Amino acid sequence: MPAKTFYLETFGCQMNAHDSEKVVGTLMAKGYTQVPTPEEAGLVLYNTCSIRDKAEQKVYHRLQQFKRNGKDKVIGVLGCVAQQEGERIFERAPNVGLVCGSASYNKLGELLVQIEAGDRRVTGLSLDTDEAFDTPFTRRDNPHRAYITIIEGCDKSCAYCVVPFTRGPERSRTSESVMAEARRLAAEGYSEIQLLGQNVNSYRDPTPAGWNFATLLGRVAEISGIRRVRYTTSHPRDFGRDIVDAMDSNPAICDHVHLPVQSGSSDVLARMERLYTRDEYIERIDWLKNARRIYSITTDIIVGFPGETEKDFEATLALLDEVEYDSLFSFKYSPRPNTAALGLEDHIPDEEKQRRLVIVQEKQRAIQIRRNAGLIGSVKEVLVEGRHQALEQWIGRTSDNRTLNFTHPLDGAASLTGKYLPVRVTRSGPNSLVGESVTVV
Ligand code: SAH
Ligand code: SF4
Ligand code: F3S
Repeated sequence: MPAKTFYLETFGCQMNAHDSEKVVGTLMAKGYTQVPTPEEAGLVLYNTCSIRDKAEQKVYHRLQQFKRNGKDKVIGVLGCVAQQEGERIFERAPNVGLVCGSASYNKLGELLVQIEAGDRRVTGLSLDTDEAFDTPFTRRDNPHRAYITIIEGCDKSCAYCVVPFTRGPERSRTSESVMAEARRLAAEGYSEIQLLGQNVNSYRDPTPAGWNFATLLGRVAEISGIRRVRYTTSHPRDFGRDIVDAMDSNPAICDHVHLPVQSGSSDVLARMERLYTRDEYIERIDWLKNARRIYSITTDIIVGFPGETEKDFEATLALLDEVEYDSLFSFKYSPRPNTAALGLEDHIPDEEKQRRLVIVQEKQRAIQIRRNAGLIGSVKEVLVEGRHQALEQWIGRTSDNRTLNFTHPLDGAASLTGKYLPVRVTRSGPNSLVGESVTVV
């Protein structure tokens, strides 16, 4: 392999984004330099996602591009497709030299040594590791907001989902190591922390302290210097009232909960093996709506799960009206390898899934237009994320996870990035707000 240079492209969720930050840290500690294009790199890495077929296909598309002009490079597939496909990737894409799933990233250093020694095919595919992937150096992408993984893997078995296969069984980090990382980040100047896991609220401290998620959340939010704490994703089944209490009593915990429902029909939820009914889900929404603060609530919806009738689908639409989500992600059901739903009957044709997807998205768009318009005139604190040069606006994020772009008297004169400022909302759209800073300078 030529010079120790690498290129890394990341697909998928925030867990993958954060894993990539740790992978970059590991490689840099081994003397590698990151380069901005695959052409310049000796080692080309893809951190992959397999949640839907489309995500998986993207990776093969990338690998295809190296068929002709990638002979002098080592190509590596990391992440969820790596774990799912394992050594089959070598057959499908013979130019690949490294295949490594997320549970084996603590072996990356050794795998790199093997590659440098000339091994043509190296793998890290064990799922039974119980060490967390901790690296002395994590190269974080954002200087103000930092991710912390608190729990890896997933022990649920939702009938449509590959994650238990691609990330293995649930493993919680010790509360000690999470707290130490959070304190270090605060000392380094990070003011926002996002706790990550496929089901953060299944967190269970493996040490005798035995903290649950609500306790950990509260303790992280008490660290001095930490102004905002977010967490994602929560599973409704494990979403206890104690989490709402922790949020209510700690203003540093952001006004936002992402609580994926998937479907508004209890029949579909049962077939999905989601472990809650529509009523149990609504009970949790009621806790949030009757809480001491106003929380924005967002969700994920799957349309066209096998056997989803028109009546089931209408139950999902009725749920959107009832909850009035602040935002949602919606997906057409995508059949995935190894999952139980493959064996279900009544798979729904793509055109019908597409029709239902459009209906969900149009309904939600109308809800968001209405909800966001209701915020005009209010003042919200934003963390400034950067500047939108073309619009001559600063980009801000509110505690309730809205984008609130704004003008400021200082304009481009000094950087406001990383600051917390009050902004008055003056205009709204379906996906964002616009306002002006109310700071007098
Ligand atoms: N752990 C989270 C989900 C993470 S995956 C939870 O349990 O809520 C993110 C989202 O992708 C899911 O909420 C689901 O809406 C969607 N998704 C997962 N598998 C899918 C599939 N096979 N087809 C379509 N969407 C899927
Ligand atoms: Fe997938 Fe279900 Fe686990 Fe979420 S809880 S990661 S949807 S198996
Ligand atoms: Fe995708 Fe793996 Fe995340 S499948 S959504 S990258 S856990």
